[in-house]
Amino acid sequence: MSGLILGIETSCDDTSVALVDRSGHVAAIKTVSQFEIHEAFGGVYPELASRAHLEAILPTIEAVMAEASVTPKDLTAIGVTRGPGLIGSLLVGLASAEALSMGWGVPAYGVNHLRGHIRSVELESGRTEFPAVIMLVSGGHTLIAELKDAWSYRLLGTTRDDSVGESYDKVARMLDLGMPGGPAIDRAAKLGTPVLRLPRPMKNEGYEFSFSGLKSSVARHIEQHPKVSIEDMSASFVAACVDVLTAKADRALAECKPRSLVIVGGVAASPQIREAMGKVAGKHGVELCLPPMKWATDNAAMIAMATWDYVERGLQPELMPKPNLSLETP
Ligand code: KG4
Ligand code: ZN
Repeated sequence: MSGLILGIETSCDDTSVALVDRSGHVAAIKTVSQFEIHEAFGGVYPELASRAHLEAILPTIEAVMAEASVTPKDLTAIGVTRGPGLIGSLLVGLASAEALSMGWGVPAYGVNHLRGHIRSVELESGRTEFPAVIMLVSGGHTLIAELKDAWSYRLLGTTRDDSVGESYDKVARMLDLGMPGGPAIDRAAKLGTPVLRLPRPMKNEGYEFSFSGLKSSVARHIEQHPKVSIEDMSASFVAACVDVLTAKADRALAECKPRSLVIVGGVAASPQIREAMGKVAGKHGVELCLPPMKWATDNAAMIAMATWDYVERGLQPELMPKPNLSLETP
C-alpha cells in the first residue's frame, strides 16, 4: 500500500500531527506542547488542554502538510486517537479528523492510543519479532502483555493504582525537580547512589503492579529526613522501579518464551530502564525492541503508524471518544 497516513494525537496535553508512510518513515511531524499552560497547576488542567488543542490543531495540520508538500490526494487515511485520554482533548482531534475526512474524501480511523505506543518501535528503526512480550510504561498506563502478532494481545497485568510515569512525576515534585518528572529524576539519579531502602511493591507476585506504596515511602522518608540527598533519593527510587519492572519482564519472558521484548511509553525513554531491560532480554536470548527516544513519549507519528494496521484489516472503528479504552479493544 502506498501513500501516507496523517496521524493526529490530542489525547492529553500535546497537539501532535504527523505524516508517516507504510515503512515507518516520518515525512513530517509537528508537536505543540502545552507545558507552559499546565506547569503552574502541577498537572494537566483538562479544560485548558481542550481549548489549547482547539487553537493549535488546524494550523498544525496545515504546517505539517505544507512541510512535506502533501495534498489530500496523497493521503491513504487519517488516523486519530479515540482513547484512552481526556474526553475534551480527544473530541478536538476526532472532530477535526472527521471534518477533514468529509471535506477531503479520505477515510478516518479512530485509533487506540495504546496500540500507537506499541507500534512506536516500528518508526524509522526496526521491526518487532513476534510473538513478543510488551511492556507499556507511560504517565497514563503501566501494563504487560503478550502479543502473538501485531494485532492479537493477551493482557498479563496492569497497575492497581498509580502508573510508573505518574510516580516518577510525583517523586520529582516532592524533590522540587520540576516537570516533566521522568527526565529530571533520571538526571539526578545518575549523580547519586541507591543507598536508601525503598519497597519493591508486588515484585514477586504475578504481573500486576502497584506504585503508590513506593511513592508514599519516598514521601515518608523525605518527611523524616528533610536533608536527604536528592541524587541518592532519585537513584534509590529509580533502582526500585527498575527492580520491579525487570522482575515482571523476566517472569513474562520465562513463561511466554517470545522472540522479542518490547518496551514502550514515556518511561521507556529512561536510560536506566533501557539498560536494565537490555540485560533481561540478553539473559533470555530475545531481541530488545525500543522506540527511538523521541518516539517514546506521546506523538502523532506512532498513531499514524498504528493506523496502517486498521487500514490493512479493513477496520473502521467509529470516531467516538472512548476515555477508558482498553488495550484489547481496537
Ligand atoms: O507516554 P507518555 O508521553 O504519555 C502518556 O501516554 O502517559 O508518558 C509520559 C510519562 C511521564 O510520566 C514522564 O515523566 C515519563 O513518561 N517520562 C520519563 C522519561 N521521559 C518521560 N520517565 C522516565 N525517564 C524519562 N527519560
Ligand atoms: Zn501515551
